[in-house]
Amino acid sequence: MNAERPTRLDQMSQWAALGKHREQLGGTHLRELFEADPRRGGAYVLRVGDLYLDYSKHLVTDETLALLRDLAGATGVAALRDAMFRGEKINTTEDRAVLHTALRAPRDAVIEVDGENVVPAVHAVLDRMAAFSERIRSGEWTGHTGRRIRNVVNIGIGGSDLGPAMAYEVLRSYTDRELTFRFVSNVDGADLHEAVRDLDPAETLFIVASKTFTTIETITNATSARQWLLGGLDAGPEAVAKHFVALSTNAEKVSGFGIDTANMFEFWDWVGGRYSYDSAIGLSLMIAIGPERFREMLDGFHLVDEHFRTAPAEENAPLLMGLLGVWYGAFFDAQSHAVLPYSHYLSKFTAYLQQLDMESNGKSVDRDGNPVSWQTGPVVWGTPGTNGQHAYYQLIHQGTKVIPADFIGFARPVPGLLDSLVPQHDLLMANFFAQTQALAFGKTPEEVRAEGVPEELVAHKTFRGNHPTTTILAEDLTPSVLGQLIALYEHKVFVQGAIWNIDSFDQWGVELGKVLAKRIEPVLTGQEGGERLDSSTATLAAAYRALRGR
Ligand code: F6P
Repeated sequence: MNAERPTRLDQMSQWAALGKHREQLGGTHLRELFEADPRRGGAYVLRVGDLYLDYSKHLVTDETLALLRDLAGATGVAALRDAMFRGEKINTTEDRAVLHTALRAPRDAVIEVDGENVVPAVHAVLDRMAAFSERIRSGEWTGHTGRRIRNVVNIGIGGSDLGPAMAYEVLRSYTDRELTFRFVSNVDGADLHEAVRDLDPAETLFIVASKTFTTIETITNATSARQWLLGGLDAGPEAVAKHFVALSTNAEKVSGFGIDTANMFEFWDWVGGRYSYDSAIGLSLMIAIGPERFREMLDGFHLVDEHFRTAPAEENAPLLMGLLGVWYGAFFDAQSHAVLPYSHYLSKFTAYLQQLDMESNGKSVDRDGNPVSWQTGPVVWGTPGTNGQHAYYQLIHQGTKVIPADFIGFARPVPGLLDSLVPQHDLLMANFFAQTQALAFGKTPEEVRAEGVPEELVAHKTFRGNHPTTTILAEDLTPSVLGQLIALYEHKVFVQGAIWNIDSFDQWGVELGKVLAKRIEPVLTGQEGGERLDSSTATLAAAYRALRGR
């Protein structure tokens, strides 16, 4: 039994108190909560850095919030948080520290892992990345034939892809338009094919991003990219040095692959893959936006780290967001959580959060290996909001499921938008506010009837409302704001994992598929028969072979 947690979550008095409180709340409607307290919209608000966070449209009262904070206290969230920031090995199943917060710590900070201050090494790598980025951006770094680099292709998967690919899109308006960026992740050859088909190898740099440098998808794509490059240049392996760099924790594997470790930017085993894009894994982003903007982003992360570490529970935004998720999962049977950005630039934001949240908290045993009897991580989903309005919002408004949702919007359009497009921003944001209003307050049958709707249609046109949402607003979508948003979600996920008493920093669930794929491949190629497979997989493999004419 975990010493910090002598009692299982479902046996804690604070858990029982929340259950009782939930019963008392019953079907209380947001309309009633707003009527009872006319100041609610201005009171249930937090400000963190540049973020304005409105949680008034949640099915909570002051009492709910106090009970949730009691739960956080009883489950030791703050103690675990402090242990994380101190560099203790809180990822117990992998015996690792969890120190993505050190990646954005200021130069003079001291954070020790096994007695060694890791901050100087973090800044040494950031400085090397900055020097390299400037050489690419200025054209000083040239390819094997002496031509300047104009294309950057990041090859990685999971955390080694989603972070840089997402952040590149988010910060598109800050990127150097002289350079082309592509992100290749899928082992489906079509991904690499489409990424390089119109590129000139003489002007292309491949960044091979892999924490372990053993991930089959990435190594396979990197090997194919090397073939494409050397074939296109009609050159030998000596050309690799000018066209390949590696981002990894594994120098041995990098050099085994044929990349000079002088061209490797390192990070460390205390950075989880899904928490890594502010490490060397962000090199493609740094090349795109420049080192200064990258540092602004790191400062944004750090601002929220400090907020999470020091703000009192009543004002702590990641704590609040984490607690709200626990509340809906446990007491409203919410199975999923929607993240709905009202910014086209955030088109990959939710996909990034899917890995962050679902790989972290998709667990069903506690830290001691005992099955949990409570809901853990939700299914995270969503796309930019206005598109969603014309697709799946119907289900959120009138379906049968409880789907808490985060709405993220910005007061200003991104810099550089065509003047003629600027007025569209108010329309976008009018939609943003209208949706959270409709979700919360709905439309009663009386209101529908008052519009003269025939009785047989009243039920169809009624909106129950009472759908909980968080609204997150910022003035501008800047690099710092992106860092603030990501750190907010990172720590929200942390809070939930701490309460659920699961290890949010391992990912054993992805291992089995990898092992089985290795066993199935020789069956597909005909090197082995399917005797060792179950009858369904063996029959499918046989059907595949037949379709391929094997
Ligand atoms: O999917 C498992 C995983 O280990 C992720 O956690 C990680 O982000 C991804 O694979 C890629 O791993 P690597 O960076 O080691 O190639």
